Amino acid sequence: MKPTFIMVSLLPLLLSLVPFVYSSISNCPKCGKMDVPYPLSTKDSCGNLKYKIHCNKTKGLEFISSDGFHYKIISINSTANTLFIMPPLIKKDTCQSIDLPVGGFRIEDDSPFYVSSRNTVLLLNCSDNILLSPLNCSSNSICRQFEEKESMCMDLLCCSFLKDASMTNHRIRVRVEGCTAYTSVVDMKPGDPFQSWNFGIELQWSSPF
Ligand SMILES: *[C@@H]1O[C@H](CO)[C@@H](O)[C@H](O)[C@H]1NC(C)=O
Ligand SMILES: *[C@@H]1O[C@H](CO)[C@@H](O)[C@H](O)[C@H]1NC(C)=O
Ligand SMILES: *[C@@H]1O[C@H](CO)[C@@H](O)[C@H](O)[C@H]1NC(C)=O
Ligand SMILES: *[C@@H]1O[C@H](CO)[C@@H](O)[C@H](O)[C@H]1NC(C)=O
Repeated sequence: MKPTFIMVSLLPLLLSLVPFVYSSISNCPKCGKMDVPYPLSTKDSCGNLKYKIHCNKTKGLEFISSDGFHYKIISINSTANTLFIMPPLIKKDTCQSIDLPVGGFRIEDDSPFYVSSRNTVLLLNCSDNILLSPLNCSSNSICRQFEEKESMCMDLLCCSFLKDASMTNHRIRVRVEGCTAYTSVVDMKPGDPFQSWNFGIELQWSSPF
């Protein structure tokens, strides 16, 4: 057989492989009712594997921190490249976030996901030794309004700060010697009433290209 003949006879086979090559850069199927836009990936066969999130058929989409903690994904905005996740619950009858044992929220340093600069973080049950700027731990800090709803956190030291570009955007830290609980409010404007606060952690991802 001549080489050209082999090429020609292989051509249909090669062409039939084309759809498979393309499918590796396709969107993942819906998870429950939620779309999973590219580059997010719920399994090896779709999306971009650097952008892994988890699909639990019953609970929906989840973001898994580098410590293996699952955070519910409430919404995704593929125009803004953002995921909106639910802050961890505070353990009943305590002022301790359920992710306190793993030190709070953490993303791998080389992950394309990061905490966006629209998050105002409220830290609760803090000890005196964390009274550093840019934390606002004054008696009129906005965290006081949240304390009123979380009665176990009342009258303990609390602080708030805007997670801006001046600090690490790969973690929100809680620990026993620091603050033991936290929550986050997205896009908070000065003077916004408590009822309108948008509780959640906004994560952003950098584009693959
Ligand atoms: C989905 O969540 C349920 C309830 O927490 C859990 O038992 C189950 O193992 C999870 N499934 C997957 C695939 O993560
Ligand atoms: C998604 O983000 C874009 C750009 O920031 C914004 O204009 C749009 O309103 C957002 N969509 C939703 C549903 O929030
Ligand atoms: C507040 O934090 C301390 C550790 O600094 C802990 O012992 C205590 O149980 C916490 N308070 C509540 C109400 O969880
Ligand atoms: C702390 O926040 C309150 C309420 O937003 C504000 O009035 C106060 O000036 C802030 N204090 C500091 C030290 O930033």
